Amino acid sequence: MKILFIGDIIGEPGRKTVARHVPKLVRERGVEFVIANAENAAGGFGITPDIARELFAAGVHVITSGNHIWDKKEIIEYIKKEPRLLRPANYPKGDPGNGSVVATALSGEKVGVLQLMGRVAMPTLDCPFRVGRHEVEALRREVRTVIVDMHAEATSEKMAMGWYLDGDVSGVFGTHTHVQTADERILPKGTAYLTEVGMVGPTESVIGITKEIAIEKFLTQMPRRFEVAPGPCVFSAVLFDVDTAVGKAVSIERLRIQD
Ligand SMILES: [Fe+2]
Ligand SMILES: [Fe+2]
Repeated sequence: MKILFIGDIIGEPGRKTVARHVPKLVRERGVEFVIANAENAAGGFGITPDIARELFAAGVHVITSGNHIWDKKEIIEYIKKEPRLLRPANYPKGDPGNGSVVATALSGEKVGVLQLMGRVAMPTLDCPFRVGRHEVEALRREVRTVIVDMHAEATSEKMAMGWYLDGDVSGVFGTHTHVQTADERILPKGTAYLTEVGMVGPTESVIGITKEIAIEKFLTQMPRRFEVAPGPCVFSAVLFDVDTAVGKAVSIERLRIQD
């Protein structure tokens, strides 16, 4: 089964780029299941119910998120009722929403998706490794194909998660830092891996934000409201093929399409 995993979608420019590329990739590359990180889809900060619906309509099967999940308060009621929108599984017990889901691909096959968040230079959450192991075991009782979004700042933490889950999941992909890395590979026991998928957002920017504002903030160390940058976008994603009989990856291709 061909699966597309899309990195952090930045604001309206990112959403429009996703809506253009996803149907094309489904048509031309035979993509059957789409996962997208949308923690920055609402003007760079969080996601709203309308935006989640917009992304599902564009062909996304499961939306993942991260530290920005709670930025828009209307998402709190929505996430309780929409299992296809995930927040990191290692948030404190009792937080709204879920960190994993089993969803159905265009082929009718079932796919498990798990969202975790790192703890290096990130909010203090439960251990993503221990929570991840527990969640993967639960998902594997139901499905063979399991994909993990590891939302983290540190390359080392993402890489460690890839090795930790190698052979037990079909793919581990990093999100959050918005700049794609070039280390895509299939790990020895069959897990597709990429440290950072990158963003779908404006190229002439600082990780999606207007560059002048970002520079000024670094220069002055004073609070400034971030704004999504204008201009053409980069579409960053990973396209991989899973042997669904065993849940192992057979190919991986990094996508970086510049408008
Ligand atoms: Fe992000
Ligand atoms: Fe993030």
